[in-house]
Amino acid sequence: MPRAPGGSTAPTWARPCGPSAASVRVDVTNDLPEVTTVHWHGHELPAAMDGGPHQEIAPGASWHPSWRIDQPAATTWYHPHPHGATADQVVRGMAGMFILDDDASRALDLPDEYGVDDVPVIVQDQAFDGDGQFRRAEHPLSPVGHLGDTVLANGTIGGYHEVTTDRIRLRLLNASPSRVYDFGLDDGRQFALVGTDGGLLSAPHRTDSVRLSPGERAEIVVALEPGERVVLRSTSPDLGTDPWTGRFAGGDDRFDVLQLRASDELTPSPELPDQLAGTPGLDPDDAVATRQFRFSGVSINDRRMDMDRIDETVLADTTELWEIETSDGAPHNMHVHGARFTVLDAGGGRPGPELSGWKDTVYLAPSTTTRILVHFAAHADPDLPFMIHCHLLRHEDRGMMLQFVILEPGQEPGRPPAAHQHEHADRDTDR
Ligand code: C2O
Ligand code: CU
Ligand code: CU
Repeated sequence: MPRAPGGSTAPTWARPCGPSAASVRVDVTNDLPEVTTVHWHGHELPAAMDGGPHQEIAPGASWHPSWRIDQPAATTWYHPHPHGATADQVVRGMAGMFILDDDASRALDLPDEYGVDDVPVIVQDQAFDGDGQFRRAEHPLSPVGHLGDTVLANGTIGGYHEVTTDRIRLRLLNASPSRVYDFGLDDGRQFALVGTDGGLLSAPHRTDSVRLSPGERAEIVVALEPGERVVLRSTSPDLGTDPWTGRFAGGDDRFDVLQLRASDELTPSPELPDQLAGTPGLDPDDAVATRQFRFSGVSINDRRMDMDRIDETVLADTTELWEIETSDGAPHNMHVHGARFTVLDAGGGRPGPELSGWKDTVYLAPSTTTRILVHFAAHADPDLPFMIHCHLLRHEDRGMMLQFVILEPGQEPGRPPAAHQHEHADRDTDR
């Protein structure tokens, strides 16, 4: 978990245990003086294990979720999700990575030695006061919320990694509350994009940049020569906004993120395979329903989050076509729990190879329509909802989130358990 100078309030939590590769149990203890939750972003699991706003952990209390891992190898992550206070907790460093392997991914010639040639890169932007304490950095004109002036990789400013092999796999996670990055290498060299949110692509995609909005992940493989130094950096991301909005949304910002220092002698890595995973293979003809979502301000379909209201009901293990429209000129993105999706078109165009694999979060440029095919997990629960929301956390905290339940055929939606954390209600308005 990232830690920052000056100490953070991050609790000791999320210690996976249990022998089985297919099942996981996590013991979470909340050492914070406030309510939290731990959400498994990108996991398909029963709603009771999801760690969304309904699975509160009181200060001093513990939570012991367990579930069977039943999805392809992927880079997922976890972070708090308390209603109205997610940005507050995530921005203080509470974000971790969760790596899923499977037989198919292990059989491929991809760098996979954790910490050696397979390295997590959890990226957050922070701001510090004179004492090295975290400071919220919200320009009054920012349409997105906190934008820190300092970028940390795995909790470290100006960090480097000693590379000992001639190829290295970096698992990039944008765990920032509101900043969009456009990652690349300082000399403009190409790398191979091999995976996105929900797993490996069908084939490596050679490119020199990859844009990640908050919550998105990318697995890239970089080739190095002995003795060289290369910097992973983020250059001004194309947000699709007007220049003024873009400027206050971080669209002009550039950061060095992590230096790669290659040893004088590098262990040879195998050539990258031409084929990685199968294609997701969702077919628009399989969609059992079509839904429209309009993202504007801090609302979706003119509604703001209500813990007691179920907004949509879907059927377990089915596919739907969702059309997501943006209309307010600000950057947003869309994340869905308990499901994974493929992108049919983004902003009117056919998606590029970077959007060809499984996704759970997608950037939404202003005044565009993004069409996705969503496949829901097989875990029905009429009472406990999953979330659809903007992963720009200030927007989410202010209410840009809806709830849906997954039902079996013939089941009626129930009622979410009474929400008891309305002490967060006052936070809706102050950021
Ligand atoms: Cu990464 Cu609803 O969250
Ligand atoms: Cu999530
Ligand atoms: Cu938003």
